[in-house]
Amino acid sequence: MKHSKKITALALAAFFVLFLFACGNQKTGVDYLVLVNKENKLPDDWETNLETVTVKNSLGDDVEVEKAAYDAYLGLKEALLKEDVHVDLDSARRSVAEQQRIWDDFTKEYGEDYTKRYVAVPGYSEHHTGLALDLYLNIDGEDVYLNEDMVEYPEIWEKIHEKLAEYGFILRYLEGKESITGYGYEPWHIRYVGSAEIAKEITDKGITLEEHLGRLPVGDVTPPKDE
Ligand code: DAL
Ligand code: ZN
Repeated sequence: MKHSKKITALALAAFFVLFLFACGNQKTGVDYLVLVNKENKLPDDWETNLETVTVKNSLGDDVEVEKAAYDAYLGLKEALLKEDVHVDLDSARRSVAEQQRIWDDFTKEYGEDYTKRYVAVPGYSEHHTGLALDLYLNIDGEDVYLNEDMVEYPEIWEKIHEKLAEYGFILRYLEGKESITGYGYEPWHIRYVGSAEIAKEITDKGITLEEHLGRLPVGDVTPPKDE
């Protein structure tokens, strides 16, 4: 082989290796920083790049989660187990119909004000993305999954929250930031943001996703259902 041909072959080989490396490193094409809140609905093309897994929780329910978020959750769960904190997935990705069922059930059980504070209008829930996970607790062998029961364990949530960023999660609905997120404090609702670096930056600053993205506070605005 002539010298110049050798160089071309080597350059091509190097390019190919770099290409494979880049493909391997590329995540999934999912926008892990997508903002879905009371004023921003789920993007229409959201499902194009979405890969999910479906798992059963200890209650026997199927829970669907975006793939990278699920892998991150497994890491978090394992780390928490080492501290004798037991968590499971109550709900992650929800269809618009499921969100409607939750909205209706909550309205019947707790009334409209509570529902607006804790449940997104169907189409505007971060749960549609598969990146939002609702955790529940297992304490002394008992599953604790009702909101009003879960809030009784702030010290357990504190242990959980301390570990979130390391696995790429943020606590999405912070205490004292209701006028920005538009929702009441939810210690159980965590959001995968794609990397520990970004999660740490948001957590260390004590800010919401809206603030991190430089987006407007949502306040208590509820979008019209027929939009
Ligand atoms: N609980 C959150 C706000 C939702 O319903 O998406
Ligand atoms: Zn949630």
